Amino acid sequence: MKQFFSVADVDDLSGIVDEALWLKQHPFAHEQLGKRKTLGLIFLNPSLRTRLSTQRAATNLGMEVMVMNMDKDGWTLETREGVTMNGTTVEHIREAAAVMGQYCEILGMRSFPKLQDREEDYSEDYFKKFMRYCQVPVVSLESATRHPLQSFTDLITIREHWQQPAKPRVVLAWAPHVKALPQAVPNSFSEWMCRAQEEGLVEFTIAHPEGYALAPQFTAGAAVTHNLDDALTGADFVYVKNWSSYTDYGKIIPVNENWLLDRSRLDITNEAKVMHCLPVRRDLELASDVLDSPHSLVIQEAGNRVWAAQTVLKRILEQL
Ligand code: CP
Repeated sequence: MKQFFSVADVDDLSGIVDEALWLKQHPFAHEQLGKRKTLGLIFLNPSLRTRLSTQRAATNLGMEVMVMNMDKDGWTLETREGVTMNGTTVEHIREAAAVMGQYCEILGMRSFPKLQDREEDYSEDYFKKFMRYCQVPVVSLESATRHPLQSFTDLITIREHWQQPAKPRVVLAWAPHVKALPQAVPNSFSEWMCRAQEEGLVEFTIAHPEGYALAPQFTAGAAVTHNLDDALTGADFVYVKNWSSYTDYGKIIPVNENWLLDRSRLDITNEAKVMHCLPVRRDLELASDVLDSPHSLVIQEAGNRVWAAQTVLKRILEQL
């Protein structure tokens, strides 16, 4: 593996999930692989799970880790080409990325969208420039449009909690929120589930209110409904997540129906397991009586972030 930006960087979806579950059983089997290799983690936005799980994964492989909170501790970067830097930016991404690549064998970066300009966010200009100029393999810790380590984790978690021969019915369910959130997690989850569906691993449905359709390049092959209860009927896994509108970009469109998943609503599912990437706002995005019930997989899911990151780092280290 040369980089990890999307599901397209994975040749063998089933194989990489098997590998992650094997590493979960044998976490130190490759503790020499990363010896004298350094992982740099660059954050332009906050993180709990991604930061700690990726550090833990790298440590299990024997790597050293450096973390930089670029938003707080770094220089303000310029990304435009050919401009005279006489404004607020201090350093160009050309130099900054190239320098970071001198210090690390692998870099990870998190860079959220601004949710102002859809074309700019979906061009992934910032991330792509960073990847080009740093000259070392880059792992996405969440970009403007995708969160692949989270989606890989989610597929691992579904596989781990599904022991039946029939394909599990997986539902991505929009949830309410008071803030406009990026589409990166649902885009990425949908992209991974559509690929898993193509490979016969799951049946996948997206449920969202009118006005919240995701970008079509992430949803090809998914069944889509505007009726949450229809989607929940017979579901085996429900992945709850809020996102802001893609069509009315970055906006919160008022929704009249009740989209909060609570315990009583799970009665129409097939005793579904409930997932969320976290952080979650209790009783706004997901009811406490679900989070505190045996239906919830959110803690196990967050735990699996280590094995997703460790598998990705292992595959990249093997190709250095
Ligand atoms: N799910 C997730 O990426 O969590 P953090 O934002 O805390 O890293």
